[in-house]
Amino acid sequence: MSEIEKIKSEYIEKLNNCTNPDNLNQIKTELFGKNGAITNQFKFIGSKSENDKKKFASQINDLKNLLQEKLDQVSKKIEIDEINKKLETEQVDVTLPERTFRKGKIHPVSQVIDEICSIFSEVGFSVAEGPDVENEYNNFTALNTPPNHPARDMHDTFYLSDDKNLLLRTHTSPVQIRTMLKGKPPFKIIAPGRTYRCDSDQTHTPMFHQLEGLHIDKDINMGHLKGCLNYFIKEFFEVKKLKMRFRPSHFPFTEPSVEVDIGYDLKDGEIVIGEGNKWLEILGCGMVHPNVLINSKVDPSKYQGFAFGIGIDRLAMLKYGIKDLRSFFECNYKWLNHYGFDPIDVPTNYRGLSR
Ligand code: DAH
Repeated sequence: MSEIEKIKSEYIEKLNNCTNPDNLNQIKTELFGKNGAITNQFKFIGSKSENDKKKFASQINDLKNLLQEKLDQVSKKIEIDEINKKLETEQVDVTLPERTFRKGKIHPVSQVIDEICSIFSEVGFSVAEGPDVENEYNNFTALNTPPNHPARDMHDTFYLSDDKNLLLRTHTSPVQIRTMLKGKPPFKIIAPGRTYRCDSDQTHTPMFHQLEGLHIDKDINMGHLKGCLNYFIKEFFEVKKLKMRFRPSHFPFTEPSVEVDIGYDLKDGEIVIGEGNKWLEILGCGMVHPNVLINSKVDPSKYQGFAFGIGIDRLAMLKYGIKDLRSFFECNYKWLNHYGFDPIDVPTNYRGLSR
């Protein structure tokens, strides 16, 4: 057997048996390294006679190509085997219940917003949004609050431009205007979101949350408003009975305007919503003023409806027994761990809102 054939059979066998990258590197060096079997064969070309040179050179070249090809094949196979082994040993069963990494919590305000959206979507309201930076027209004028109207002073507005055209919205009511200008009646929306007023003490923070509601259609009256709010408050506080009263009030954008109080009692210093002979003011509402409809390109001789505005933070405090409003915005991890909610328990009316 010639030297070339010996190398061929020896290394084909070695490569066939090779199963790991270290071994493969070893074979590579033995063949093509400085003193490798193939490298050395090339050195013999010079010592051959003129007649044999060509034949010998082409034999080594063929062998070199053959072994190189075989080496590449084995290298690929080893790589694939390694990946498959990893896939088998390192696989994660994503269907297994988790145990240790359930760390994040949902903020009570976010939880309450989710609860509110769930309650209202059950009776056909959709969720609308508007920007925090509003213009003066949507925030005031279109809502029947023209310049110099006394209600503007009560809002402690953060203005963002010298001409007072841009501001941080002082309530979610401008979403009413945006919604109506954008579409065609009927409208049935709620709009939760951030609102801002230059005010800060134990019961006020410069940024707070409101929920706006708007239902415009043909033949909507205050009975619908009453029924809607009664349903909402009962669902929200998860009570079967609710004492509720409408007290005459004034808002520029509604006529008539009322404030809603709900009955409560104190048991061991805790507020119990529903019955009792104490009253808690909870929201403002009324029938949308015809001027607001006209400003929103809705014909008040054909359409009418109700609107309401609720402070979300206060609802969250009442429901979850949180005493200080400012704690909502202090970003205290311990507080959030205590009052926060499990991200996987999304509130729904059917399954329970706050379990
Ligand atoms: N925008 C009012 C506020 O911030 C709340 C409000 C009252 C909204 C009555 C309404 C409403 O839509 O009808 O004080």
